[in-house]
Amino acid sequence: MAEIAVFASGNGSNFQAIAEAAAASDHSVCCLICDQPGAAVLRRAESLNIRPVLISYRGKTREEAEKEIIGILEEYGPEFIVLAGFMKLISPLLLDAFPGKIINIHPSLLPRYPGTHAIERSFDSGDKEIGITIHQVDSGMDTGKVLFQKTYRRTGHETIDEIETIIHGLEHKYYPELVLKLLNSNNI
Ligand code: GRF
Repeated sequence: MAEIAVFASGNGSNFQAIAEAAAASDHSVCCLICDQPGAAVLRRAESLNIRPVLISYRGKTREEAEKEIIGILEEYGPEFIVLAGFMKLISPLLLDAFPGKIINIHPSLLPRYPGTHAIERSFDSGDKEIGITIHQVDSGMDTGKVLFQKTYRRTGHETIDEIETIIHGLEHKYYPELVLKLLNSNNI
């Protein structure tokens, strides 16, 4: 039985998929850390009975904001941190507090298309194979060690909306699966 903390900034569909999978397992999500007031993910956390914690980075250095986050996490002692659409880079302060224990999902086949608008950029590229990547987090932008990738082979007839639905479907299936697998093996 392990606790995980999820960090998210926006919609929170991956947060919800992970929280629901954890609730059906021996593990649990101890809290949601969010940096954006009004983000939909805050309401999702409330309806799932998970504590939503808003930590704004506005007017603070990244380290100052992360110190506040570490203070919250110390209340729970989570074993893993799962980033799910969290739009901030993580500094060595937080990385060193959870060495090798922070993972992220990205909606492209890294190292292709790191950063924002990865689905649109994958779509526009014309690449035959697109997909998702789950990786360990380091201080770079989507640069940590790859743990898992899932490919979707395009027919060439999909619209951008269909591709988005397909990519999010892969995320919602494989991210919770991998998180639970890592928790069960206590090994990332
Ligand atoms: C996902 O596509 C994820 O891969 C990326 O940000 C998006 C978050 O979506 N890092 P949601 O907030 O989980 O719905």
